[in-house]
Parts: sequence; C-alpha cells; structure tokens
Amino acid sequence: MKSNSPKSVTSYPKTILPIAASVGGLALFLIFASLLLVSQPLGSKVSGYFYNVDQATKIGLYNETSILENQVNNTEAKSNIVDSVTNKTVDSGTDKTVDLDTNKTVDTDTNETVDLDTNKTVVTETTKTTNLDTNKTVDIDTSKNADSGIKKIVDSGTSKSDDSNTKKIVDSGTSKTADSGAKKIVDPGCDLYHGKWVHDSAGPLYSNNSCPVLSQMQNCQGNGRPDKDYENWRWKPTKCNLPRLDPKKFLELMRGKTLAFIGDSVARNQMESLLCILWQAEAPINRGNKRMQRYYFRSTSTTIIRIWSSWLVHKTTEQFDFAPEGVDKLHLDAPDETFMDIIPSVDVLVLSSGHWFAKRSVYILNNEIVGGQLWWPDNSRTKKIDSTEAFEISVATIMSSLVTNPDYKGLTVVRAYSPDHYEGGTWNTGGSCTGKVKPAVDGELVESGFTNIMHDKQISGFNRGIKKKTNKSRVAFMDITKPFAYRHDGHPGPFRNLDPNKITKRSADGRPPPQDCLHWCMPGPIDTWNEFLMETIRRDFESQDT
Ligand SMILES: *[C@@H]1O[C@H](CO)[C@@H](O)[C@H](O)[C@H]1NC(C)=O
Ligand SMILES: *[C@@H]1O[C@H](CO)[C@@H](O)[C@H](O)[C@H]1NC(C)=O
Ligand SMILES: *[C@@H]1O[C@H](CO)[C@@H](O)[C@H](O)[C@H]1NC(C)=O
Ligand SMILES: *[C@@H]1O[C@H](CO)[C@@H](O)[C@H](O)[C@H]1NC(C)=O
Ligand SMILES: *[C@@H]1O[C@H](CO)[C@@H](O)[C@H](O)[C@H]1NC(C)=O
Ligand SMILES: *[C@@H]1O[C@H](CO)[C@@H](O)[C@H](O)[C@H]1NC(C)=O
Ligand SMILES: *[C@@H]1O[C@H](CO)[C@@H](O)[C@H](O)[C@H]1NC(C)=O
Ligand SMILES: *[C@@H]1O[C@H](CO)[C@@H](O)[C@H](O)[C@H]1NC(C)=O
Ligand SMILES: *[C@@H]1O[C@H](CO)[C@@H](O)[C@H](O)[C@H]1NC(C)=O
Repeated sequence: MKSNSPKSVTSYPKTILPIAASVGGLALFLIFASLLLVSQPLGSKVSGYFYNVDQATKIGLYNETSILENQVNNTEAKSNIVDSVTNKTVDSGTDKTVDLDTNKTVDTDTNETVDLDTNKTVVTETTKTTNLDTNKTVDIDTSKNADSGIKKIVDSGTSKSDDSNTKKIVDSGTSKTADSGAKKIVDPGCDLYHGKWVHDSAGPLYSNNSCPVLSQMQNCQGNGRPDKDYENWRWKPTKCNLPRLDPKKFLELMRGKTLAFIGDSVARNQMESLLCILWQAEAPINRGNKRMQRYYFRSTSTTIIRIWSSWLVHKTTEQFDFAPEGVDKLHLDAPDETFMDIIPSVDVLVLSSGHWFAKRSVYILNNEIVGGQLWWPDNSRTKKIDSTEAFEISVATIMSSLVTNPDYKGLTVVRAYSPDHYEGGTWNTGGSCTGKVKPAVDGELVESGFTNIMHDKQISGFNRGIKKKTNKSRVAFMDITKPFAYRHDGHPGPFRNLDPNKITKRSADGRPPPQDCLHWCMPGPIDTWNEFLMETIRRDFESQDT
C-alpha cells in the first residue's frame, strides 16, 4: 500500500438518478452493444490491421469477406436488470429481437471512425505493451510494498497477442486439481491468472435445477444445449490451486459484510453465478428494489447487491455543444453518481464495464466533446479519442473517485474485460461460437486484437486511477481476460432462450444461427470468476489482518 500520494478528495453529486427508469431501455442494447463492439475489430478497416498482427501469430481465423452479408437478427437479452422484487429469477428470458440496422451502423462507423482510431491506438498500445510484457508485475505506483494482491493481479499475463506469451501460459501447470485442502497451499503471491484449464469431473457447483435465480438467457442446459462437458473444467493456476468455491466458507468470509457488483450485464452474469453457488448453502432473502438487486444471507448477515451502470461514468442525454439531445453523453471525467451514495456501505465492490463502449455515445472530457462512438456528425472535426481510450479514461475516473473517497474503505475489484467469441465474424456478420464444446487449446485460440486492446486500456486506466490512492485504499485487478479467451465453449451460443423453434444449427449455406457468444452459461466457466473473487477477498482480508 502506498501513502505517498496526497489525499485528494473529490466530491460527488449526490443526486440519485432514477436509474431504474433508464435501465430497461438500455438493457436492450446490451448484447447489441456488446456485440457491436466486436464488429469493430473485425470490421473491414480495422480487421486489416489486426489481421496483420494475428497473422504473425498464426491465429487469425477471421474471414472478413464472407461474413459481411450475413444479417443476423440480434437478440437481446432483455434483462430486467433491476427487477428483483420477487424471489424469482430476474426474468430476462424474453427474447427481444432487436432489429438492428446493421449494415448502416457498422459500416459508417468503421468507415469514418475506427480507421483513424486504429492508428492512434496502435501506437499507444505498442509502447504500453512493452512495458507490460517486460515484467510480469506492473507496478503501479512504484511503491514496493508487498501488496501482492495488487501487483500480481495486475500482471499482464493476459494481454498480448503474441504467440510465445500464449504458449507459455498454457504450458505450465499440472494436470490434476486438488481441491481439498487447497486453501493452505495458496501462496499469497501466486498469480491466479496464469495457468490453464484442466478437466475436472467434480462438475459444477450447482445445476440449472438447483438455482432459482438463473436467468433463462444463461440457462444453457435449460435452453437445450446438447453438450455439457463445458461445465467440467476448472482453472489451475500454474503455481498454486484455486480452491473450489465453498459457499459456506464464502459466507463466513463475508460475515457481516456487503458485496456489490456494479456494472453491465456481465456484472449481472457474475452476480447470478455467485448467488447460484451460495444458494446451495442457504437461500437468501430477497431485499431488492427497483434500484438494485439485493440478497441477504441470514446465517452470516451477508448482503449481495447489484446496481446497473453501463459505463461507470456520468451520463447525460440533453444537448451538449454540437451533440443533440438524445444521444448518450459520457462525461468521462466524472464517475457515475448513481451509486456513489451506497459506496460507503460496501465492503467489496466488483466493477464490470467495457462492452458498452461500443455503443453509440458521445465522449466528453473537460466539458468538451472529444469523441464519439457510432456518432460523429462532421468529419471536418477531429476526434481526440476513440472508444478504447474512452474506456481507459472511464476506468481511471472511477478508480480515482473510489480511492479518494474518504467514506469508502472497501476493497475494489476491477474485473478485466470479458472476452467474447464471435469467431469467423462478428455478432452481426456471422460470427459464431456454435459447436464449441471444450476450451480452446493453444493452436486454436483466436485472439481478438480488440479484446487485447480493451484489456490493456483497462489496465492503464486502472493504474492511472489508483495513483492517488491512500494507504487505506484496497484495489485489485481480476485479470480474467486471458484465461477466458480459451473458453469459447462457455457461451450460450444459440441456446439463449426456451423457444423450441429456435435455430441452433448452421444453415445450409454455412451461416450460423443468431447467438450470444458474450455472456456465459450458468453453470459454466463464469463460476470461476467467483472463485477468483473469493481468493482475492481472502488474500485482501488476510493482509488486512496482518
Ligand atoms: C497511512 O496514513 C497515515 C496517515 O496519513 C500515516 O500516518 C501512516 O503512516 C500511513 N501508513 C502507511 C503504511 O503508509
Ligand atoms: C473466405 O470466404 C470466402 C467466401 O466464403 C471464400 O471464398 C474464401 O476462400 C474464404 N477465405 C478464407 C481464407 O477462408
Ligand atoms: C430475424 O428477423 C426477421 C425479420 O426481421 C424475422 O422474420 C426472423 O424471424 C428473425 N429471425 C430470428 C431467428 O429471430
Ligand atoms: C418468495 O419468497 C417468499 C418467502 O420466502 C415466499 O413466501 C413466496 O412464495 C416466494 N415467492 C415466489 C414467487 O417464489
Ligand atoms: C444490408 O445490406 C444488405 C446487402 O448488403 C442489403 O440488402 C440490405 O438492404 C442492407 N440493409 C440495410 C438495412 O441497409
Ligand atoms: C466511407 O468509405 C467509403 C468508401 O471507402 C467512402 O466513399 C465514404 O466517403 C466514407 N464515408 C465517410 C463518411 O467517410
Ligand atoms: C497509421 O500509422 C501507420 C504507421 O504509424 C502509418 O504508416 C499509416 O499511414 C497511418 N495510417 C493512417 C491512416 O494514418
Ligand atoms: C521480473 O521480476 C522478477 C521479480 O521481480 C525478476 O526476478 C525478474 O528478473 C524480472 N524479469 C524481468 C524480465 O525483468
Ligand atoms: C435443466 O436442464 C435440463 C437439461 O439438462 C433440463 O431438462 C431441465 O428442464 C432444466 N431445468 C431448468 C429449470 O431449466
């Protein structure tokens, strides 16, 4: 921990916006947005660049020419994010078909925007990258204190798309997982995110039948997914074990404490996974309201909360300078005020964001429009930042606001950018994870240049954001990006809903059905995130004790 930074205190607007009102509408964009982002790297211009990178590493599998016509309806995941008034599942099964005007959007954007951006991005990335790769520990503030949690976690094991890195990661580790008694084996310094997936016949921590809060969208088995072995893998860090999550121990660890997930639909995915796991030990009381999901576990007085925030920064819709009313304006230098009031009561905060930066929005910094995503009315103006840089700034902003918040003493966990797997295209151009039934092995790992950039931007933002941290700040970067790049088998794919007539196979001409290759099946690999989380919390609490 560091103490060298001046303790600067920012103040937050205390207004509580009625997020519930906006959530519904925004939620519709979820897959839309998430998927859209994928279209960028693979879009005509950009993919050119990434292709080169990937070619060097022989992992590019994208065939751009063939994917552009395929007009797949996008399906949203209409998540009733905040609806949790009943004890019943967040109903998100309703499969809303959002007909996106795909060609138009994607084309234009790619056209005007990303091209420029690519260049910028590339340059920055390269330099940054080197740093990251040089050594595993990206230390942030140069302070040497053995805050192993933080340092290790920020290790860059994940980022680069170069082969050697990839290989290294997969080579190491042993083949068997020993769950039992693993807890003591866990060396506090062990890098949790460097390891590999190993088959584990112990199976998942719950089933679709034993978890009442499992969104239909994530209920792959319930939606008819024929294969099941994707549930039987666990992550084996090279130098230690990641204990299988014991729900009783988790609750004990969090006795009297509050855990909050804040962010997008991927936050919901993780929260539900955790609830499903804990539910096996105890059915919580639902204390949710319109504003947040909230579950209370009586045995240990543990509270689990989820609040929606798409970008984690302040958003407005009214006209701003040359940006008209209606389009979302992201004030990248101001944190999303909608949840700041609950922050002081939170002991562990898990932040989830990234995918929404592919959604149409205007970027505002220092009261000036500095960029736009899928929005830029006038090409004579120059964008100063692209969506990935906006993401970086947003992460820096939220982290900075948290570490300088005098009333907040919790552990902040930033969950790294969650990789999607629209191979062979994008969500709207025939990209698919159909037919993936086990984790990728090295040779078939398809790296996404875009994912890697987002991941690296997130780390830079994180590091920048915590520069101001005080010696009571506790932060961790949960670096799941690389491990989960291997889990192309972990998504619902076409099994997103109960519709008995849904298309689940490729058509005769080879087109894949509409699918969700972004969110994660439950049970499924996302359960591992909560194992990472528990281990992160445990290490943090232990370091507090000492
Ligand atoms: C933490 O901050 C307090 C007050 O600012 C200071 O006295 C103390 O030395 C700091 N502790 C560490 C470990 O830096
Ligand atoms: C890409 O797709 C086109 C059309 O489907 C096909 O002709 C071409 O061979 C494919 N290229 C590669 C590299 O797969
Ligand atoms: C896709 O959209 C078309 C028209 O918008 C609709 O007829 C078709 O049923 C949709 N397909 C799926 C799978 O939703
Ligand atoms: C919700 O929980 C309450 C109390 O546990 C129970 O009485 C009620 O039947 C449940 N409602 C539903 C819809 O499950
Ligand atoms: C999308 O492109 C296809 C072929 O490129 C075209 O037929 C279709 O009309 C376009 N749709 C829209 C909405 O522009
Ligand atoms: C997009 O690209 C096309 C072809 O490259 C070009 O004709 C068009 O002017 C571009 N549109 C914009 C807005 O730059
Ligand atoms: C992008 O950068 C590369 C190398 O920096 C340069 O060669 C290329 O001309 C640039 N492209 C554009 C469109 O600026
Ligand atoms: C990375 O850090 C480790 C431990 O700090 C050190 O032993 C090693 O030499 C470093 N590697 C490089 C390449 O700097
Ligand atoms: C759970 O999955 C099985 C298939 O493995 C299915 O038969 C069952 O209906 C599902 N249950 C629920 C509640 O979705």
